[in-house]
Order: sequence, then C-alpha cells, then structure tokens
Amino acid sequence: MKEPILLTPGPLTTSTATKLAMVRDWGSRDTGFIQLNRRVREMLLDVAKARDTHVCVPLQGSGTFAVEAMLGTLVPKNGHVLVPVNGAYCKRIQRILAILGRRVTAIDYEEREPVRAADIDAALKKDSSITHVALVHCETSTGALNPMADVAGVVARHKKSLLVDAMSSFAAVPIEGAFDALVAASGKCLEGPPGMGFALIRKIALENCAGNAHSLVLDLHDQWVNMEKTSQWRFTPPTVIVAALHAALEQFVAEGGVAARGARYGRNCEVLIDGMTRLGFKLFLDARHQAPVIVTFHAPSDPNYDFQRFYDRVREKGFVLYPGKLTQIDTLRVGCIGAIDEHAIRAAVHAIADTVAEQNIRLHEPGAFRSRQHAS
Ligand SMILES: Cc1ncc(COP(=O)(O)O)c(C=O)c1O
Repeated sequence: MKEPILLTPGPLTTSTATKLAMVRDWGSRDTGFIQLNRRVREMLLDVAKARDTHVCVPLQGSGTFAVEAMLGTLVPKNGHVLVPVNGAYCKRIQRILAILGRRVTAIDYEEREPVRAADIDAALKKDSSITHVALVHCETSTGALNPMADVAGVVARHKKSLLVDAMSSFAAVPIEGAFDALVAASGKCLEGPPGMGFALIRKIALENCAGNAHSLVLDLHDQWVNMEKTSQWRFTPPTVIVAALHAALEQFVAEGGVAARGARYGRNCEVLIDGMTRLGFKLFLDARHQAPVIVTFHAPSDPNYDFQRFYDRVREKGFVLYPGKLTQIDTLRVGCIGAIDEHAIRAAVHAIADTVAEQNIRLHEPGAFRSRQHAS
C-alpha cells in the first residue's frame, strides 16, 4: 500500500534517499561511523553558521530529551531562568525547570500572540538575578514564530545567556542573533527520521558547565568531553538515525540550505492557507506571526465535524493530519514541512475538501468557533 503523506511536524515525510540510508548496519566504534558522526556534527554547526564559536553535542532520544539536557547542563543549580510563554512547548520548559529545581520567572502571553522583546527587556531590568532566558523559536503548538533576533539583542545587551528551543524551525527559518545554546532534532525540518536531538553550544559557555547536570545521560558537558576525547558516543548511538541524518543533510545542502528549504516550506504554507481558507477554514493566528512550519485552523463548529472521523477519512485518502494542542479552543493543525512540495499540499487540500463534502460539514459562520468543552 502507498504510504500516506505526513502533514505533521515530525515525524514527517522523508525522501527515498534518506530512507535508503537506513538500510545498512553500522558498528558504533567503527571508523566509518566515527567519520560520519564527525561530519554530521560539522554540518549541523554550519546550518547555524556557528562552526567557529560553538560545538555540536548530539544526544539520543526525542526533542524533549535535548531540551531537558540543555536546561540541566547550561543552567547552574543557583541559576534563574526567564521564560516567555506563548504555548505548550514554552510551558514544557517551565515544567522541566521546576522539576530540575531551577528558579523560573515566566512572562505569560495569549496563545495567538508572539513573545515581545520589550517585555524581556523590562523583566531583565527589573530583576538582575535572572541569569538565562529560554526561548521557543517556533511555538509548534500554534505555529507562531517568536522574534529570536530581537530577543537575542536584548539578552546580549543585558549580558545574559540565551537558550533556544529551535526544534521545529532549525534548517527552515534563519537562526538570527547570538545564543549560548540551541537545541533541535533529526526528525523535523532537516527531514531525517526521529530519534536523535542535538545541541549547538557556545564552547566557552559549555566549558563552565561541568557538574551542573542532574542526570548522567542528559549531561551534555560529559557527552561533549567524551566525544572529543574518544570520537565516540558515551552510550549506544542511534547509528541508523545518524546515517539517515547525514543523507538528509547532504540533500539539505544540495537544495540550497536554509533559504531554499524555507522558501519551499513558505510556498507549501501559502498554498495550504489559500486552499483551506477558500474552503471556509479559519486561521487561528494572524498571518504575520505564522511560521512556515505548521498551520493551526479553528475546528469547524458544525456538530457533523468530529476530528477522529475527519482524520480517519483524510487518512484513507493518503494524508495524515495533526490534532490541535490549544488549551481553550478546539483546533486542528496541518504541517507544511517534510520532503513534500506544493503539489502534495494541493492534493491534501482536495482530500480535505472531499471529506468536508462527504461528511456534510458546514464550515464557519462568523463567530462560530468551538471551545474545547464542546469538542467531542
Ligand atoms: C518547539 C518544540 N519543542 C520541543 C518538542 C518536543 O519534541 P519531542 O516530541 O520530539 O520530544 C517539539 C516537538 O514537536 C517542538 O515542536
């Protein structure tokens, strides 16, 4: 059976070349794998143009493992982290810091609003005990892009440390502004399979992080020191994921890097928004704040709409959608990332239109958005 196209923000649809790169075994201590691993680390630094200042520390696991490892390694036990919060992934950072026993101050926003650098400036002026700012670049729960360059400017002016979760933006949106650490993962805009995260960390910052981490496996300082010394991972590496990520990185470079990938996703996003709004779906975000990564639409208010039934039918037609992740409003999300172009997006919009017609779903009347309580 033909595989469905994943319109989800990772795992996502990968190319045939990336899939084929997984069809072999690698010895984790073999020189071939060691060379491949070294090359992947260099290529990841190049994506952010950070090879002269930062080091790349890969880590087994999903994206959250890398976020927790970054926070636990970079923030000392007496650190104090400012977290601007405009969605679920910012809240996850707050939660991780609370579990780690690190002091946190949050600035809360509505889910439809991006973070404002001026508020971070004011918070840093008000409380000089803050040592770090933790920013989510693209808040994937809504698809909002936070203004990293402006935030980085403010954080640098206050001589604080910026930690960035760039999970769903890295490789598609330029990384602008100075950061001490940034995390992302193999299975997002680099178009690899999921299973490996990585951190790009300013070398002089990481050198001071020995002993900070609460955990052995999530200690990025220890992972780095060992990898520099032995060229090997401390614990069994996800060898096939590293190999596939290498293939995906070669394709990323051949495509034209961040500018070209961002342009393809931008086109996917435009075609998606245009097609869906023509059908009558309403965008959750103001289009100005939309990252070309994933788009949140209000769920239809018609009682004939049931996400699971709708999802199943669109899935039968070859496309995998994503549920909403907002606290108050019922939504659905459609990703625009992965090894797909605007033709796939057009076909997906057709499948959605056919499903709307088959299931007799009336699309929005003004003001008729569903709250989560009314969602079935
Ligand atoms: C911004 C952001 N941070 C963190 C994560 C967590 O990644 P994972 O689900 O791979 O642990 C995601 C996942 O989509 C994300 O989009």
